[in-house]
Amino acid sequence: MKGTALSERENLILGIESSCDETAAAVVADGRRILSSVVSSQIDLHRKYGGVVPELASREHLRKIVPVVREALDQAKSSLNDLDAVAVTQGPGLTGALLVGMTYGKVLALALGKPLIAVNHLEGHVHAVLLEAHLAGKRPALPAICLIVSGGHTVLYHVKAEPSNGGSRFSYARVGGTRDDAAGEAYDKVARMLVLGYPGGPIIDQLAAHGDPKAVRFGEPKMKGNPHDFSFSGIKTAVLYHLRRHPELQPEIDARRQALARGERTADALRRLSSVATLDLVASFQRAVVENLVTRTLAAAQEFHARTVLVSGGVAANRELRATFESKSAPGKKMGGVEVYFPSRALSTDNAAMIAAAGYARFVIGDFADATLNAEPNLALA
Ligand code: KG4
Ligand code: ZN
Repeated sequence: MKGTALSERENLILGIESSCDETAAAVVADGRRILSSVVSSQIDLHRKYGGVVPELASREHLRKIVPVVREALDQAKSSLNDLDAVAVTQGPGLTGALLVGMTYGKVLALALGKPLIAVNHLEGHVHAVLLEAHLAGKRPALPAICLIVSGGHTVLYHVKAEPSNGGSRFSYARVGGTRDDAAGEAYDKVARMLVLGYPGGPIIDQLAAHGDPKAVRFGEPKMKGNPHDFSFSGIKTAVLYHLRRHPELQPEIDARRQALARGERTADALRRLSSVATLDLVASFQRAVVENLVTRTLAAAQEFHARTVLVSGGVAANRELRATFESKSAPGKKMGGVEVYFPSRALSTDNAAMIAAAGYARFVIGDFADATLNAEPNLALA
């Protein structure tokens, strides 16, 4: 994204993100105007392993961090001296990966004599939706229920903002979350079983549109305790058993493996190598995941009397998830009457504009980190 002229009073925050497999840097003015957002994805590097390999991720972050930050500054037509603060992802994430971006941002801030801001990656996802809403001239009413749904997380937060020091201090209370796999992880694992390539979410999203979502029945996960928790390992295992009961699907699985080895990984190519039975299975899997995510999130919104639902993370890009949220939240529907906000695709997946936006909220109220800042792989959001 290219920058435009900067007004004098705007504060420029450089955001840096390296918690998983994206090296990202962005310059955001006043937490709402994206002057640049550069994301270098490692998907191709990890594809042949079917998931992120931590060692490779750290090494690639080391290679990319300097050029990515430089590119973000160039695109924003800014220099290091123009910055008002540096915001870095402190956690959660992979330790080695986090350390690269966090250490680089820390050294940069210290060398420049500018404030350093520590951002929780999940808080970044919350701010991705708020940033997108602001870009569209909207102001989501808080408190809200926020669903963060990605390859690493599936969690519900109750998000509040209290006036503080001329800005807003955001607070987050965990309402529920997955007890086993994250939703994106279930997508990736099912895609792996069916040999649809990596990452699985985008391809299943496209193939599901060609299948019958009612063809295969997956039971609702039976869970005691917190009604706002999720579970996706049961659905994943049900897909595995389904494949065992249907050995006739094996030849097409082998054909897709060969196609992927030849580099044919487009949705069209994989769809041509998928029977109606497979497309039905994929559509039914997606329907089960989406129904689960939407009904539990809207039920939490009702229970906490939230008028707003924020949805963020890689899986938020899913078309059926968006459509189902929109239809079930419409006024007059059983769980309706709430406004649901999504980020654009670019802001749904990991990026640094969301880190700069979250950092700006802390910048305004003077919530800074010091030189003792360290990466926290299991950092909680509370
Ligand atoms: O937020 P993200 O880029 O990285 C983290 O996991 O933090 O999310 C990546 C995850 C992957 O599991 C991927 O399969 C999933 O998001 N994903 C999707 C879609 N696009 C990405 N899942 C479902 N539908 C999609 N369209
Ligand atoms: Zn993420």
